[in-house]
Amino acid sequence: MRTALNALTDELRRLKTTGIKSVSVSEAGLLALRAVIRGRQSSSAVVGNLASAARPIAAPPMPVAKPKVVEPKLPPPPVVTLPAGDKAGRWAALVAAAQGDPVALAHVPPGKKIVCGTGDLDARILLIGDAPGLEEETEGEPFVGPSGQLLTKMIGAMGLKRSEVYLASLMTWRPDATVPAAAGQIGHRGPTDEEMRYCLPYLRAQIEIVQPTLLVALGSSAAQGLLGSSAFKALGEVRGEWREFAGRPLMVTYHPSYILRNQSNRSKRMIWEDLLKVMERAALPISEKQRAFFL
Ligand code: URA
Repeated sequence: MRTALNALTDELRRLKTTGIKSVSVSEAGLLALRAVIRGRQSSSAVVGNLASAARPIAAPPMPVAKPKVVEPKLPPPPVVTLPAGDKAGRWAALVAAAQGDPVALAHVPPGKKIVCGTGDLDARILLIGDAPGLEEETEGEPFVGPSGQLLTKMIGAMGLKRSEVYLASLMTWRPDATVPAAAGQIGHRGPTDEEMRYCLPYLRAQIEIVQPTLLVALGSSAAQGLLGSSAFKALGEVRGEWREFAGRPLMVTYHPSYILRNQSNRSKRMIWEDLLKVMERAALPISEKQRAFFL
């Protein structure tokens, strides 16, 4: 009987190596097994019976229509807690937190950087874009590419230096480029609502540190990231108007990349009129010459 059982276990092992994880035993197989146990049948007959009865248990049929489960791609937004202390210390802690964020790090290609805001920690004006581009993720600083260079000129036209405002983007990483950079085009896609929601606590923390008089949202992605994606359909509905974010006045205007694509005086004047409102609210001096820019 021992030989028969050895033969049986050998056969089960062999079946296992072929990927069979369970076997069903036919009535005949069971009878043969019982017969062996009673010492009435040869081992080879048992093994033959079991082998012929062994079938992989069929997988249950797949449901035709899968239930629609929307899987979030990102974990919930981080909780950013700022330490007590002076602005510089709190800002350093915020940058360290943003740069150590594992979700952000997973989105940054090798050799590229997480991008936090920069500028005067006592600035009256805090300007917000949607997401870093190629140049920004390379330098680790917002608004250093073509849009940033134009933004620096716009800030100059307001009578300020770049270092006298605070510049930030909603996102701390560049959304994967799905749009190749082409002539006159910036090679990155807009961030998703979920991506912006994820990064928003870092921006809120920067606003809390700087305590600016007002905020400026540059472009529709940034404005939707701050106001919610259902707040407007076209930027024209909200641009030039005062809204509110984090308890501060928020001016919505075009992103400088819009001007890079539309070089007309009319486009420039539209943004400039929004910036004149910003200057007024921030109590910046405005000359007659400035009032007449792009007219
Ligand atoms: N656009 C942004 O929103 N941020 C940058 O840093 C550059 C371009």
